Amino acid sequence: MKDLLRIADLTADDLTVLLELAARVEENPAFAHDLLSHRIVPMYFAKPSTRTRLSTAAAVARLGGTPVTVGPDELQLRRGETIADTARVMGSYAAAIVIRTFADTDVQELASAAPIPVVNALTDGHHPLQAVADLLTVEERFGTLRGHRIAYVGDGGNVARSLMEAAALAGMDVAVATPPGYEPPDEAIRFTATEADRNGGGFTLTTDPAEAVKNAGVVYTDVWLSMGDPKEEQARRRKALAPYQVDEQLMTCARRDAVFMHCLPAHRGEEVTARVIDGGRSLAFRQAANRLTAAQAVLYALLTDRLRGRR
Ligand code: CP
Ligand code: NVA
Repeated sequence: MKDLLRIADLTADDLTVLLELAARVEENPAFAHDLLSHRIVPMYFAKPSTRTRLSTAAAVARLGGTPVTVGPDELQLRRGETIADTARVMGSYAAAIVIRTFADTDVQELASAAPIPVVNALTDGHHPLQAVADLLTVEERFGTLRGHRIAYVGDGGNVARSLMEAAALAGMDVAVATPPGYEPPDEAIRFTATEADRNGGGFTLTTDPAEAVKNAGVVYTDVWLSMGDPKEEQARRRKALAPYQVDEQLMTCARRDAVFMHCLPAHRGEEVTARVIDGGRSLAFRQAANRLTAAQAVLYALLTDRLRGRR
């Protein structure tokens, strides 16, 4: 498997490989420190980013390479050069490409034309690097993934999708609560149900946050308006998603030792209250720290051809 575009392209074994590599990186951050020596990794960001941009840059540096961040205004893409031509050219200088943009089809086109690994650093549909760091964070906290319920409450967007797909591959009990009309795509629901079942976990999709959170070891949420969502939707989303705010009351429905997770950036007072995200059960900043470890593991795995993939 050359690229990491979405979690659903991984097998359960691939996910295990990534989590094991991440554990090795955690023990020894200098692991494979010259893998990318004298190589560059272009990082194209068409949307803002704090964590992904910097953790991936740090991961490239730890592997001995040089990250080169480029925005939409800096490449000839802006002037009509095709994605395929850009990919071919980058392939002659670079070791891998990291891309954050809007349409998944653009990232697929880039990956098809690039002779080097392409890593999805967030699209409208997926956020695979986040999901790897998230499972690493849960495993770090509870020692295992299987046997724990992870409840996602809120908008069924990119973060929800990658998280539920990864948790299903890991055999967790996945529960998702969204308002009607904000569910993850059908394809993600089918994948999660099938893989959770295959790997010894479970899957619940509901409109009731309390039902999703019941017996959960992890309660997770994300912003109500994503970077790829039209601004005009803000008011409608706030209204629909208000009953899905993660507050202390909802946390009492979860297991006594339950943790709260959020990919960040967070909007306190919208999807989560300040008391929850800044409270003792919150792992949000541990997740952010684990983004570096996860990015290093993913880059290493792709560059050394450790993942089989589904196709
Ligand atoms: N969680 C996450 O991807 O954050 P950034 O948008 O800051 O990269
Ligand atoms: N769903 C959010 C995640 C940000 C990391 C977005 O796409 O804006």
